[in-house]
Amino acid sequence: MDTIGLLTSGGDAPGMNACIRAVVRSAIGKGLRVFGIRDGYRGLLAGTFEEMGLRSVGNILQRGGTILGTSRCEEFKTEEGCRQAADLLRRRGVDGLVVIGGDGTFRGALDLHEQHGIPVVGVPGTIDNDVVGTDYTLGFDTAVNTALEAIDRLRDTADSLRRVFIVEVMGHGHGYLALYVGLVGGADAVLLPEVSDDVATTCRAIWEGLARGKRSSIVVVAEGAAAGGTFEIAEQLMGMADDMDNVDTRVCVLGHIQRGGRPSASDRLLGSILGNAAVDAILSGVSNQVVGRMKGKTVITPLRQVVSEDKGLPMDLLELMHRLST
Ligand code: F6P
Repeated sequence: MDTIGLLTSGGDAPGMNACIRAVVRSAIGKGLRVFGIRDGYRGLLAGTFEEMGLRSVGNILQRGGTILGTSRCEEFKTEEGCRQAADLLRRRGVDGLVVIGGDGTFRGALDLHEQHGIPVVGVPGTIDNDVVGTDYTLGFDTAVNTALEAIDRLRDTADSLRRVFIVEVMGHGHGYLALYVGLVGGADAVLLPEVSDDVATTCRAIWEGLARGKRSSIVVVAEGAAAGGTFEIAEQLMGMADDMDNVDTRVCVLGHIQRGGRPSASDRLLGSILGNAAVDAILSGVSNQVVGRMKGKTVITPLRQVVSEDKGLPMDLLELMHRLST
């Protein structure tokens, strides 16, 4: 193995740059050449490769997003697109590929390996933390902290004006982010796609809490958790207000704000460890695997397993959140 390619794909996540830096510097330190591929699989198809040196990754550790750029590329998902990408990698003399991203990124990597024999190693990077084979994905910790800061601010105004705030967080059909944000943000309820909570029961619990003397309330909703959407929950809640007409409700959709910003120390650490581990893996002939950290140890998990298994939620944390929000 002489030359590796490196790309980030799908939603960007804080900590990706720390990982890019680690891949480039570890690989060069071990005698490899590294081609950075711009804009994920789209750039792979367009052949936008740039050789990276030690200085190309200077001063990026603290930056959010990804210096390589990223994309969601439909063309690459086709048989022809994947074949073209594999041909291009071979023509450019790329012997192996490190991909940083989430579920969709790994499906693409699996196709490159299984259909065209390209050695690939994945690093989990997404704020959703919905990837099997690692306790945490790059970007999750920063996104939790970003949402937490927003909730702390919302609490100030919620408490001053006696309001219920319904805060929608991202997650792409998974409730990990909402659950963590709800627990550490002291929410009174969380609505998660994985848990078929009756919205009416949740609304009732909010009013009961206010009737017990709470001055304000925070409800965290994972995007996609409620059939009618987050604004409908607010309407349903107000429809059940009964005699609490001095309490009003507002909705705050945090959206893409959660994806940006300086990566936390944990995400920089995770990016550094996993970037280095990805290079070690690919150099030692490991392929078709994802590197992750579980219980403080670096582990590798087959790509196929990663794309086919569901991570599941730590339900004990949900119980804890309920116990502490009385
Ligand atoms: O996967 C990361 C994520 O931020 C999800 O939480 C969210 O559902 C999705 O990406 C949004 O994607 P886009 O930026 O393409 O709208």
